[in-house]
Amino acid sequence: MSFLSWTPILQVGVNAMDEEHKVLIGLMNDLHSANEKQAAHADLRRILTALVDYTKKHFADEEKYLESISYPELAVHKVVHQQLLSKLAENQKAFEAQQGPVPAAMFDFLNLWLNAHIKGIDMKYGAFSKATKKVANG
Ligand code: FEO
Repeated sequence: MSFLSWTPILQVGVNAMDEEHKVLIGLMNDLHSANEKQAAHADLRRILTALVDYTKKHFADEEKYLESISYPELAVHKVVHQQLLSKLAENQKAFEAQQGPVPAAMFDFLNLWLNAHIKGIDMKYGAFSKATKKVANG
């Protein structure tokens, strides 16, 4: 069974962003599964680096999209992204310091990120986007 599953409850309703969230969940699952299989540190590092890089790409894409729809909460959303990136970097540092498996705290953080950020914060721009389109389409 996967560590995290994509379910419709995570759907923000903006296709490009939903697809990127699915890729993120896939990378989180890859990391978890490699860790469970006691993969070598170098292999875990490769997946974690891919996750960090894709997270940066996703946040940049999302912020660009939010700008394009004049999302009023963009500034706050950007701050939250920065906080998530700092926390991710902290967890990455702890992993490197240990030179072993991925610390459990990393998975707690990824789980929280998914549940609190996508379900909570991202969902708000989905609602805004939907409402804006409705007004535009009359
Ligand atoms: Fe999908 Fe705000 O991250």
